[in-house]
Amino acid sequence: MPRYFCENCGFTDKLDKNLYFCPNCGDPLTITYSDDELEVNFSGSGVWRYSGVLPVDPNKKVSLKEGNTPLYKSLHLGSGVKGLYIKNEGMNPTGSFKDRGMTVAITRAIEKNFKSVICASTGNTSASLAIYAARAGIRGYVVVPDGAVALGKMAQARAAGAHIIKVRGNFDLALQMVKDFARKSDEAYLVNSVNPFRIEGQKTVAYEIVEEIGAPDWITIPVGNAGNITALWKGLNEMKRLGKIKYLPKLLGVQASGASPIVKAFNDSSNKIEPVVSPNTLATAIKIGNPASWRRALKAVRESRGAMIEVSDDHIVQAQYLLSSREGIFVEPASAASVAGFLSALQNGLIRKEDTVVSIVTGNGLKDPDSVSRFESIEITVGSEEGLLHSVIAQ
Ligand SMILES: Cc1ncc(COP(=O)(O)O)c(C=O)c1O
Ligand SMILES: [Zn+2]
Repeated sequence: MPRYFCENCGFTDKLDKNLYFCPNCGDPLTITYSDDELEVNFSGSGVWRYSGVLPVDPNKKVSLKEGNTPLYKSLHLGSGVKGLYIKNEGMNPTGSFKDRGMTVAITRAIEKNFKSVICASTGNTSASLAIYAARAGIRGYVVVPDGAVALGKMAQARAAGAHIIKVRGNFDLALQMVKDFARKSDEAYLVNSVNPFRIEGQKTVAYEIVEEIGAPDWITIPVGNAGNITALWKGLNEMKRLGKIKYLPKLLGVQASGASPIVKAFNDSSNKIEPVVSPNTLATAIKIGNPASWRRALKAVRESRGAMIEVSDDHIVQAQYLLSSREGIFVEPASAASVAGFLSALQNGLIRKEDTVVSIVTGNGLKDPDSVSRFESIEITVGSEEGLLHSVIAQ
């Protein structure tokens, strides 16, 4: 049977309890499988195609057909490498990668008879929680930093009838609050990425990439709380154990300059992070100063012989504009960090011209419609005088 496992201290336990953190050292737990428990036969499409490597009963699944997201070959931005592919996670049911983890975590909540689920969120987790809780017929509570969540994400949480708790403080405080709650109460199931069932669902992005193009040389991914890079690395390692790939890609974890504690630890060859007390970036989804899964993220990039790098807000906005205007892929700012990171690593020689690269873009541009006010747009207002439109278009 799959088991809880602490990658930091080796603690292990059966899955029948509802655990999130290691009782010995406090790190978020992982779920591990022995070799004969990893199932090679996949069938169907999306996240549940991989139900043989998911620790829940697929017959009880709460699903909106998540996963199976498009992988596009870049037409312009990848001209400096052998191939750049963009994995568009914004095409998931609620418009972000969170749905991959949420479908599994909410299924687990149903298996364990929870009537409520809760998360802290920079926005996308709350949107996903709200929609999946609605689908499952249970109550959703979302704890968000007041005034710091993009419009589209709040709209989704509201529309799905979630209870919205706005905290006067940042995401790190909100996460601390729900962690304290979960330590003391079993009233609501915590479905942040510290929940190991979330990681299980999110690892399927690696399975999909590998099934479509094999192992690329690099995968770039934005990093906030560091659950997703943890999940990506887990999925890649499982695919290698399953014999589906011969080597592991290098990971490029990308943080925003104003919220980059893992980058600092990576550059200092340190084994701990110094939390950023007041993180600051326009990429609100990754505006996180004290990432819960920092240790697993550092381990992943080091094991992969990859790197953690930071990108400025200006570069994020530039990459967001290039993605939409040159590639036809409209993403939210945090997602563009992934591509800004690719461009920066190409420029400084970390990524080389013979490399094949996948950039994971994590959230749909419609999540944060205000972000496009940073682009120069070509807009005019006209009256109905005859010939006006003709004269404008002919120019
Ligand atoms: C769009 C988007 N990209 C990236 C991230 C970062 O993911 P993680 O917190 O798992 O590192 C988030 C997290 O909220 C997100 O919403
Ligand atoms: Zn531990």
